[in-house]
Amino acid sequence: MKIARYTAYGGPETVVLEDAPIPTPGPGEILIRVHAAPVTAGDARMRSGKVPRGLGLMVRLAIGWSRPKVAPGWAFAGEVAALGADVTTFQEGQRAFGLKGFKGGAHAEYLTIRADGSVLPLPDTLSYEQGAAFFFGGLTAAEFLIDRAKLAAGERLLVAGATGSVGSAAVQIARHIGATVAATASPANHPLARQLGATEVTDYRAGPPKGPFDVILDVMGSIGWKGAAPLLSPRGRLILITADLGEMLASALNRRFITGTNKDDLPAMRRLVELHAKGGYTPIVGPVLPFVQLSEAHRIAESFHKPGNLVVTMSDPA
Ligand SMILES: NC(=O)c1ccc[n+]([C@@H]2O[C@H](COP(=O)([O-])OP(=O)(O)OC[C@H]3O[C@@H](n4cnc5c(N)ncnc54)[C@H](OP(=O)(O)O)[C@@H]3O)[C@@H](O)[C@H]2O)c1
Repeated sequence: MKIARYTAYGGPETVVLEDAPIPTPGPGEILIRVHAAPVTAGDARMRSGKVPRGLGLMVRLAIGWSRPKVAPGWAFAGEVAALGADVTTFQEGQRAFGLKGFKGGAHAEYLTIRADGSVLPLPDTLSYEQGAAFFFGGLTAAEFLIDRAKLAAGERLLVAGATGSVGSAAVQIARHIGATVAATASPANHPLARQLGATEVTDYRAGPPKGPFDVILDVMGSIGWKGAAPLLSPRGRLILITADLGEMLASALNRRFITGTNKDDLPAMRRLVELHAKGGYTPIVGPVLPFVQLSEAHRIAESFHKPGNLVVTMSDPA
């Protein structure tokens, strides 16, 4: 099978495809034949080592000093190809999707994962491409809007950067909660922002729209606390999805300033699946490339201007 590997911290050319034997599932594991996997902003940051100011040291301590020692690929959708001993919760041929997490390994034609790990049956309402696109922006938007900012029905939300992976999930989830949504996006993405449910759409290059907002979700951190404070209602909250170390420290002292990373455990995954079943979230699939174009997919992902989620496809599902 083909599997991806990072050769160094660097440009998209540092992700390469190699041949490897198809792994054998051990006891309690399942073998997945991967049909589709996202190439996320996180994948691009792991490969390049380019992270917000002050976080580089932590990242290199976690994933490798001289090169990323983790495997490429955070999430996957595919079908169960074989069962290890003692697995009773999945069947061969079943559609499944899940996360390999930051240690990676989803950019491969086959992978193994514990059957009681971060893997769930893929609902019939989602294609493999949608399954691949499902978790990255969805888990982030759900946790920050629902658990951290406690967005409520009737509140007014600004999603700055509303049509990428996190933004497109945030607009949908906020509309499902019953908030009204103003969005910023490049002009080419204005129709998508409206289709997602934003009622007011402007170009972020013209500055943020007029407040007050109960919640601002700033995807790229381009507004920041100083820019957001005058736009917030008295109890308004700012969520900075992309924050540097200084902003993370400042947010620890300010309950209305929210930063950090989101959880990607099974309860969070299950909640997102339930939200989908209730009509509150369906991932947007943007560019789709064949797996052999993984380098090109990384180049697009690190532009931070893709609509929705970028997906690579490993094989045509039968
Ligand atoms: N804190 C966490 O746990 C967490 C979790 C997930 C992601 N992230 C971070 O969140 C960021 C976004 O991830 P993503 O997957 O949503 O990326 P993405 O799919 O590439 O989307 C980026 C979005 O930002 C918009 N944008 C680009 N430059 C902008 C600017 N200067 N001002 C306002 N908007 C701008 C883009 O709009 P146009 O395309 O219309 O130009 C697009 O909507 C990344 O930095 C990622 O590392 C953090």
